[in-house]
Amino acid sequence: MRIPYVNLKQQYLIERKKIIKIIDKTLQKDSWVGGDEVRKFEKKISEICKTNYCISLNSGTDALTLALHLLGVRKGDEVITPPNSFIASTAVIVHLGAKPVFVDVKEDQSIDEDKIEEKITKKTKAIMPVHLTGRMCAMDKIIKISKKYKIPVIEDCAQSILSSYKGKMSGSWGDVGCFSAHPLKNLNAMGDAGYLVTNNYYIYKKIKTLRTHGMEESRNNVKVFGYVSRMDNIQAAVLNYRLLNLKKIIQKRRENVNLYLKYLDLKKIYFPLETTDEFNTYHTFVIQTAQRDGLKKYLKKIGIETAIHYPIPIHLQSASKFLNYKKGSFPKTELQAKRILTLPIHQYLKKKDIIKICKSINKFFK
Ligand SMILES: Cc1ncc(COP(=O)(O)O)c(C=O)c1O
Repeated sequence: MRIPYVNLKQQYLIERKKIIKIIDKTLQKDSWVGGDEVRKFEKKISEICKTNYCISLNSGTDALTLALHLLGVRKGDEVITPPNSFIASTAVIVHLGAKPVFVDVKEDQSIDEDKIEEKITKKTKAIMPVHLTGRMCAMDKIIKISKKYKIPVIEDCAQSILSSYKGKMSGSWGDVGCFSAHPLKNLNAMGDAGYLVTNNYYIYKKIKTLRTHGMEESRNNVKVFGYVSRMDNIQAAVLNYRLLNLKKIIQKRRENVNLYLKYLDLKKIYFPLETTDEFNTYHTFVIQTAQRDGLKKYLKKIGIETAIHYPIPIHLQSASKFLNYKKGSFPKTELQAKRILTLPIHQYLKKKDIIKICKSINKFFK
């Protein structure tokens, strides 16, 4: 019996009747880009993130780009971020002509907040923590640094919708919180989509303008060159429907983690347990072991799909050569890249699937 790492087909089959109706209804309206579903989505997201505003967009990558652009990140500037994220977190910095300045991570894969201050220079234009796996960074300390140096914080919340830290929602800590609704995210569209949240009216107004070619009030007078980065009404309609289930999906993922923790022999693998400050939403469930490659191969052979997020740290990617980082620049990130293994965690897993995965892992280490 194969246990898939993701199961989008199952999601679609369960939702099929409803989704077809929703798409059909939405296409019969005159607005296909933007529209009533988009506005409803933005209202709902700002409510659940407890922020004043939300702007729907066409991807998480564009959310980061627009936020960095608006905050004035340009050629020669520096942005502080971790090197263990998805490539997009760094790509957006490079595309604006700025330099990503990496800070190594802690055992739990989050940026090491105690190492941020030493990387701040006169050129630092933003701090961009990434809430990897659905676990939030130590935002209270990061915001303290941001206030001390008057440097804005852009949260990369691509993987952390509904996560919280010390009771405060992901995306609501920094100046801007940027989310992805990519099909593999806990709140997923049927293609690319993203959104951002902010409490700042100026940021909200300006990013809304940037989202649609820089047009403010009319199509004919444009004060700044913008982007085309809007959410389709169909995607918003699907997301509005899926929002109804989001809490349940996260609850199921958290239950899956509890099952893993109950049945896995935790003496053989490392998993950073949730602290009392955190509410993790488990976009991914990542264990760490020195025998990662052997374990991955073994699980594959018996039909258990796994993934690695991410096997090559960003500073060691070929694309990063011009940044002149070397092997050894970020020891924790590099060590974790060799040890991390993402196990299936999706909401369609059955208890018996998780028990089988755990038993197989325990057997591998015997
Ligand atoms: C941490 C992180 N940042 C940024 C992104 C980019 O989001 P998108 O794929 O919606 O452009 C992703 C998406 O996978 C991500 O996981």
